[in-house]
Amino acid sequence: MADFKDLLQSADWKTEKHVPAIDCPDKISKGQISQIDVSVGKQIAHPNTTEHHIRSIEIYFLASGEKFPYILARFEFNAHGESVQGPNTSTIFSEPRVSTYFKTDKAGTLIALSYCNIHGLWKSEKEISVG
Ligand SMILES: [Fe+2]
Repeated sequence: MADFKDLLQSADWKTEKHVPAIDCPDKISKGQISQIDVSVGKQIAHPNTTEHHIRSIEIYFLASGEKFPYILARFEFNAHGESVQGPNTSTIFSEPRVSTYFKTDKAGTLIALSYCNIHGLWKSEKEISVG
């Protein structure tokens, strides 16, 4: 049986459409509320149909030297063209792009996970320093 960590796929978000792109400053001010933007399909669009879409994004923070991550935010995307008429019959689509805010006194690593309903879990990371 696979270890859960082996189920997390990663690649460069510029060449792999499932990987969440993390946009935030490389260095944030200690204790100041900072914005984090995470999107899937920033460079290469991911399909958004009833049968194939991005279902969720989660954002974690692992402070330097700590063992356990904090979960900062979790987003679900629930509209993918379905309606009472059936699959792919509406013009309503959630887009897998989110913004959230956090503050920290500690440097660390932001970790974003995206979940495609047919291609599984994808991970990206970004180091941030605090000054
Ligand atoms: Fe996919």
